[in-house]
Amino acid sequence: MSQNAIELKDIAVETKQNGNGLSKLRCAKFLLICLLIDVIVAIVLFGSDVTKFTELLPNFPLFDLLVSRREKKTILVWNSAHRIETSGFGFGYKPFVQHRCEVSDCILFDNATLSVWQPLESYDAIIVNMHELWESPTTMPIDVYVLGNIFNWTMTYRLNSDVKLLYGRIEAGPTAPKTSEETLKMIERTRLPSSKNYATTKTNLVAWMASHCETNGLRETYVQQLQKFIPVDIYGECGNLTCPRNDHWISYPECYTMLEEKYKFYLSFENSICTDYATEKFFEVINRNIVPIVYGGANYSQIAPHHSVINALDFTPEKLAEFLKMVDANDTIYNEYFWWKGHYQVEAGIDQMTGHAFCDLCKKLHEEHNVTKYYPEVETEWHADKHCKQVISWETNQSSTISN
Ligand SMILES: *[C@@H]1O[C@H](CO)[C@@H](O)[C@H](O)[C@H]1NC(C)=O
Ligand SMILES: *[C@@H]1O[C@H](CO)[C@@H](O)[C@H](O)[C@H]1NC(C)=O
Ligand SMILES: *[C@@H]1O[C@H](CO)[C@@H](O)[C@H](O)[C@H]1NC(C)=O
Ligand SMILES: *[C@@H]1O[C@H](CO)[C@@H](O)[C@H](O)[C@H]1NC(C)=O
Ligand SMILES: *[C@@H]1O[C@H](CO)[C@@H](O)[C@H](O)[C@H]1NC(C)=O
Ligand SMILES: *[C@@H]1O[C@H](CO)[C@@H](O)[C@H](O)[C@H]1NC(C)=O
Ligand SMILES: *[C@@H]1O[C@H](CO)[C@@H](O)[C@H](O)[C@H]1NC(C)=O
Repeated sequence: MSQNAIELKDIAVETKQNGNGLSKLRCAKFLLICLLIDVIVAIVLFGSDVTKFTELLPNFPLFDLLVSRREKKTILVWNSAHRIETSGFGFGYKPFVQHRCEVSDCILFDNATLSVWQPLESYDAIIVNMHELWESPTTMPIDVYVLGNIFNWTMTYRLNSDVKLLYGRIEAGPTAPKTSEETLKMIERTRLPSSKNYATTKTNLVAWMASHCETNGLRETYVQQLQKFIPVDIYGECGNLTCPRNDHWISYPECYTMLEEKYKFYLSFENSICTDYATEKFFEVINRNIVPIVYGGANYSQIAPHHSVINALDFTPEKLAEFLKMVDANDTIYNEYFWWKGHYQVEAGIDQMTGHAFCDLCKKLHEEHNVTKYYPEVETEWHADKHCKQVISWETNQSSTISN
């Protein structure tokens, strides 16, 4: 055992001096995962030697987290551990239990642990935040361009990720319709006099709350043009109205409550038009009694119930204004957008987001890895530059786009 410990220590020192531990792992049998969130990507590597890990445990400060004798998979967050996508879940073993993971035998470590627990090879998975690597490659001890053939898995907001890290989800409940006929019947039912009229308290038309006023997706230009035709109340730094600050990740209930009471529509406009990219701007709002007007790269028919959102990219700003005036003028038409309430469950917020992702990762780590998987490179498919689009005009009904 002590022989083993010395060997591991040597590897650790070497790794540290080399300053490029990840590329060293290439020669070992590891699995690499690539994760994207908010134009961020992380990577996970799987180690294998659990025995060596447990031998060293008595020296390990988180030893008390190991409450059972069952094998636990260890996951290291290599960089940017402070980011909400990982810190929001929490570190150690407890978060896996607290989030009621189906398989909870995992421990999440942050990079501070590296100085205590050095051998990278001992982790079952290593998550690398690609955002940091791609944004400022020179400050990282990793050469982005040598990352080919080392990432085994991806962990991102993309629906084709190995581990999905989604801002939210809308699940069909037991009473949700199974066919389009049933869906139409349920939409019709909103016209019954006994049905709720969602429009009664609402005095204003459209609200938007934003703090990033210049974006790749040019949503601000769309909003400016929309304002020529209908009033848009803008909260936050991009407008002159204020609400309890809507921090990127913390939803202030009072603010959303005010918005849903007062407004018929909310502009759930993403700052980038990227494949599958639908953030809390969308999920927090659709969870309320207000109709989201979406502007983004997600396939909203796939992630939201039929006839629950209005897609701005289907219209020019002028046509959208006309359409909203028409819906505003007729409560019957407006209420049809709420037919699905009570039949579907919306999940939003950082807790469910990280909970689903890390529970899934933990479960996947415990599954048999008889299939070898790795990505020859991650730029083409996963870099934001490659799957995000820049809108250049709304002159036609189709959003005109160019890819970088
Ligand atoms: C992970 O990727 C490496 C290539 O970098 C490969 O050798 C290894 O078998 C993969 N591991 C798994 C479990 O797929
Ligand atoms: C962990 O990450 C933080 C921020 O990314 C960095 O400041 C710190 O030096 C890192 N610690 C170690 C031990 O690498
Ligand atoms: C706020 O902005 C809107 C639109 O730009 C403008 O019409 C309105 O007069 C402004 N209100 C105040 C109080 O400045
Ligand atoms: C969007 O999703 C719907 C429903 O899943 C599907 O029928 C449609 O083909 C998708 N559209 C695109 C462009 O992928
Ligand atoms: C834009 O096109 C979509 C179908 O591609 C259609 O459903 C929608 O009504 C059109 N909108 C306008 C304003 O023409
Ligand atoms: C509102 O729309 C419904 C459904 O299209 C229609 O039957 C009704 O006549 C409209 N009401 C008014 C006042 O236009
Ligand atoms: C992996 O192994 C399991 C059990 O050992 C087996 O049931 C499964 O079919 C295998 N998967 C593949 C893709 O070979």
